[in-house]
Amino acid sequence: MKSLPCGNLVHGLAVKHGMGGSVYVDNALLDMYATCCATMDDACVVFRDMREKNDVSWTTLITGYTHRGYGYGGLRIFRQIGEESVVGSEAENVNYENLEVSVGREESEGEKEAWRLFQDAIVTYCGSPVGTLAANDPGDKQPLNYDQVFIRDFVPSALAFLLKGEGEIVRNFLLHTLQLQSWEKTVDCYSPGQGLMPASFKVRSVPLDENKTEEVLDPDFGESAIGRVAPVDSGLWWIILLRAYGKITGDYALQERVDVQTGIKLILNLCLSDGFDMFPSLLVTDGSCMIDRRMGIHGHPLEIQALFYSALRSSREMLAADDGAKNWVRAINNRLSALSFHIREYYWLDMKKVNEIYRYKTEEYSTDATNKFNIYPEQIPHWLMDWIPEKGGYMIGNLQPAHMDFRFFTLGNLWSIISSLGTPKQNKSVLKLIESKWDDLMGHMPLKICYPALEYEEWRIITGSDPKNTPWSYHNGGSWPTLLWQFTLACIKMGRTDLATKAVDLAEKRLKLDRWPEYYDTRNGKFIGKQSRLYQTWTIAGFLTSKMLLENPETASRLFWDEDYDLLEICVCALSNSGRKKCSRGAARSQILV
Ligand code: GLC
Repeated sequence: MKSLPCGNLVHGLAVKHGMGGSVYVDNALLDMYATCCATMDDACVVFRDMREKNDVSWTTLITGYTHRGYGYGGLRIFRQIGEESVVGSEAENVNYENLEVSVGREESEGEKEAWRLFQDAIVTYCGSPVGTLAANDPGDKQPLNYDQVFIRDFVPSALAFLLKGEGEIVRNFLLHTLQLQSWEKTVDCYSPGQGLMPASFKVRSVPLDENKTEEVLDPDFGESAIGRVAPVDSGLWWIILLRAYGKITGDYALQERVDVQTGIKLILNLCLSDGFDMFPSLLVTDGSCMIDRRMGIHGHPLEIQALFYSALRSSREMLAADDGAKNWVRAINNRLSALSFHIREYYWLDMKKVNEIYRYKTEEYSTDATNKFNIYPEQIPHWLMDWIPEKGGYMIGNLQPAHMDFRFFTLGNLWSIISSLGTPKQNKSVLKLIESKWDDLMGHMPLKICYPALEYEEWRIITGSDPKNTPWSYHNGGSWPTLLWQFTLACIKMGRTDLATKAVDLAEKRLKLDRWPEYYDTRNGKFIGKQSRLYQTWTIAGFLTSKMLLENPETASRLFWDEDYDLLEICVCALSNSGRKKCSRGAARSQILV
C-alpha cells in the first residue's frame, strides 16, 4: 500500500512512453491496483481500458475481488469471460479455485445454478446494474409485466447481493427508485400523492437523432398494472431496504444524503397524514401489497401494518438529527406505540381468544365494552374451531367494524416477528403454530401465502370470480417459495433455526428440478402453479438469501429488531391518561403488552 504512489508514477511513465498497450505492462499495473488499493475501482479502470487481455488479466481481477471477500464479484467476472467471448483456452485457464475459498464451502448444484440464473436476471441502466427482472424465463413469449424490476421483488435480491458483499447494485437501485418517487404521474385526470413509490420500473430505449438511442427508466405506479392499485408496500420496502443497506455495508453516508432524507420524509408524510380513520393502522385498498389482486384484504391488512411498523422503526433510526427531527421522532413514536398496542391486543388469536369471541356479547354501547368492534360470534369460521391448536397462535389478517378476517397470512405474521410488532411471547407462539400446522403451511413446498383458501360462493364474491386466484392457487392459498427468506430470518431471531433448516431443505429438493417456479398449487403445494412463471427471480433470491442467513446468523441479526421498551412505556402512559393502566416502564413490562 505504501508503495502505491511510486506505482502510480510507473503507470504514468508507461502511458507517456507508449507502453500502455502491452499486455505484460497492463497486467503488472492491474496486479498493483488489485493488490494495493482499498477498493477495486482503479483495477477495474485499467482492466476496462486494456487493449488486449489474457488469462493472467482475468485471474488477477478475480483474485482481487475474492481476496477482499467479494466472492460474488469474482463470480461475476468469471461469467463475463464467456460473454466477452475470450478465446476458449484462456477462459479455461482462469484460476477458479480462489472463488471456492471465498464462498467458504463447496456450493450445492442448486446454489450454483441459482447464482448463475440470478446473475442473468440483472438489469442495467446506462451501463450500471440497477435491479433484477421479476422473472427471466427464456421460453416465455408473453412475459406480461414480469420483465420489469419490481420494488418488492428486488428486496430478497438486494439481500442476496449484500450478503455476498455486492453493494453497488443495491445502492444504484435505491438512488434510481428515489428519482422515480417524484415522477409526474396521473391516472385519467387525477394525480396520486407525492412520495408514492412505483410498483415496478422498466428500462426503455428511446430513439434520438442520427440512429442513436437513449435509455430511460419507465415507472409503473399502478396506472398500467391490473386493477389500478397504488402499491402501498413499495415505499415501505424502500425504507426497510435502505436501512438494511447501511447495516450490512456500513455505508451510512447514503442514508444521510439530503435527497435520501427527503425521500424518507415524503413517504412518511403519505403514511402519517391525518385522515378520517379511527385506527392507528394504515387504511388501504385491496391488492396494495404482495397480494396485488382482489382477495378481500382491503381495510387494515396485517401485511401492510407489519411493513408500516418496520418502516417507521427504520426511519426513526435513519432520520438526521436536524431541527425538524424532534417533531418527526415524536410523530413516529406516537404511531409506533399506538400501532403495536392495537395489533397486539386486537389482532392476536389463540385458543383462549377464540373461546372468548365464541362467548362474546354483542351490541355493547360503551367505552369499556369487551367486544369493542362488535364482532358477531357466528362469524367464527368452522375451519378455525378445528384448526386452532392448543399451543401457539397468530395475528389475524384484518380487523374492521363487525369483521375479523381469521385467515392466516404468512408474510404479515413473519414480518410481525422480525420487526417485534408482536410481543416476544406472541412471536414465539406464531412459530409454534407453524410447527404444529407444518403439513398445512409447508406441505411439499414452503410457504402458504395464506391459509385456508377461499372456496365456492366466498371465492366468487370476494375475488370477483378471479380465474387466477382459484382455491389453493396463486394468492388464494398457493405456496410461495420466496417467503422462505422471511421465515428463515424470523426463525433465526427466535432461536428456531431447526425449523428454517427443515424448510430450506424441503425447498432445495425441488426448486432446481422444477425450474424455480413463482408459486405452487393445491392444498399442500404439490404441483407447480397453473399460471406460474418459471425462473422467478425472487424464488431464486429467497432461496440464496435463506442459505446465506443460515450460514451467517450474525449478519442476520442486523436485519431484525428487538422489543422496544420505551415504546411500551409511551403506550402504557397513554392508556393511564385515559384511566386504563398504571404508567411506568415496570408496568409496561408486566402488563398485557409483553
Ligand atoms: C405478482 C405478485 C406480486 C409480484 C409480481 C412480480 O403480481 O402478486 O407480488 O410483485 O407478480 O413478481
